[in-house]
Amino acid sequence: MVTDEKATKPIPKRNSLPFLGSTLDFARDPLAFLTRLQQQHDRLVQFNAVGRLITLTLTPEDAKYVLQENNKNYVKSAAYDVLKMFLGNGLLNSEGDFWRRQRRLAQPAFHKQRLALLVDGMNRETAELIDRWKNRNPAEPLLVSEEMMQLALAVVTRSLFSSDVKNHFENVSESITTIIQTAYKEIFNFFPFTRNWPTPRTIRYRRAVRKTEAIIYEIIEQRRREPPETRHDDLLGMLMETRDEDTGEQMTNQQLRDEVTTIFMAGHETTANALSWAFYLLAKHPEITENVREEINRVLGPTNLPTIATLRELTYTTQVIQETLRLYPPAWIIGRQPLHSDQFGDYRVEVPGADGLLICPYLLHRDPRYWEKPAAFHPEHFSPEQVKLRPTYAYLPFGGGPRLCIGNNFAMMEMQIVLTLLIREFDFRTIDQKIIEPEPGITLRPKGGLRLQVQVRPKAEWAAS
Ligand code: HEM
Repeated sequence: MVTDEKATKPIPKRNSLPFLGSTLDFARDPLAFLTRLQQQHDRLVQFNAVGRLITLTLTPEDAKYVLQENNKNYVKSAAYDVLKMFLGNGLLNSEGDFWRRQRRLAQPAFHKQRLALLVDGMNRETAELIDRWKNRNPAEPLLVSEEMMQLALAVVTRSLFSSDVKNHFENVSESITTIIQTAYKEIFNFFPFTRNWPTPRTIRYRRAVRKTEAIIYEIIEQRRREPPETRHDDLLGMLMETRDEDTGEQMTNQQLRDEVTTIFMAGHETTANALSWAFYLLAKHPEITENVREEINRVLGPTNLPTIATLRELTYTTQVIQETLRLYPPAWIIGRQPLHSDQFGDYRVEVPGADGLLICPYLLHRDPRYWEKPAAFHPEHFSPEQVKLRPTYAYLPFGGGPRLCIGNNFAMMEMQIVLTLLIREFDFRTIDQKIIEPEPGITLRPKGGLRLQVQVRPKAEWAAS
């Protein structure tokens, strides 16, 4: 692909209303709208929404081109501004040299070796949940989606701050929930200037941000006062320790605040939704659940907790998680803004003119050109043989290129631990075979929440599986 001016074919455009364009279709049911476009087009299609001309890319090659090969021509799209209100200049929304430096500083904290230090905390948080679930009335359906949200929040909080935050946890969790709910609503707010108005929503939001910020700053200050030899084996400790290779500089309190809040946000809602979808799919597929249990029994037996070494042996369970992320990718859409015109084969995306460019993992993950059974829950899609046959960017739950999710190993580890421990102890069943639809917002949630019947498994069944 080259970026000279030998444009040829016009990019297909979707006909839509003169002023509103496809805004209503897109806002009403984005997945149905985008799926229709995918069925009608092969590579690229443009439509107008919210007064902007959006280009939807439909192939793994173009996803790779935008995210990796020509990533310098693309910055994060305007949708990320909503997150900026809270996340400041953290990794998720910063750009250029500042982003590059922060990414270099943060990367060591996410190396597999350092992540191994967090396994114990993940096991402990899950064990606390198991105790709680064992002491509840099993006849009552359980709101699994909310339970996963609280668990993932507890895991990321412990991973960031070890035990320092236990006393503040209630406050943080409540404030983070307010912040996320506001961000959700703001995504579809077509009048972004109202964000600065003192409405009850923005007042509640600002209060929550101030409260969370105060707690984070307090912990940072407390650690700065400690003797230099004091070590904290958690993400904040690692972020405070790391130094720029060239200048020797460390992160300022403001930068730490922005990265910590970014990890908070990016690191729990995504994982929580993926886990909810995994339990939903397993509840609907008892035969796959049995295969998972057989593997858990072989690798861990009835009581051992997972370790970094045993997690590696849980290959089928990992395929189940990968397949869940295929069908329900929490980051279902990735937006970019082209800086200059760009050439995609015979097509040219013109700047100015074209605003947003979309890469849609949800569509690529269900494209029959790359998947044997696109609509089925089929963990064999991730057998080494099948993986080899596919273009790499046909599957991109964690994005790709330099902006690849920094927490991908963290997330995989957490999902493996939670899934194995809970599937070993409990049976999950859907209520009246209910079908749960995905609801796309910042992440892909189970619409209306996920309620399941959750029963403790008799010990005898463990031995038999
Ligand atoms: C299943 C769970 C997760 C999914 C599906 C996911 C997905 C993604 C995707 C697609 C991106 C790239 C966005 C883009 O290119 O515009 C991203 C970025 C990011 N994620 Fe995740 N994520 C997950 C879990 C986590 C966790 C657990 C953490 C932290 C503990 C995390 C931290 C981040 C950060 C900091 C970035 C920005 C990286 C950068 O631009 O340098 N994520 N994530």
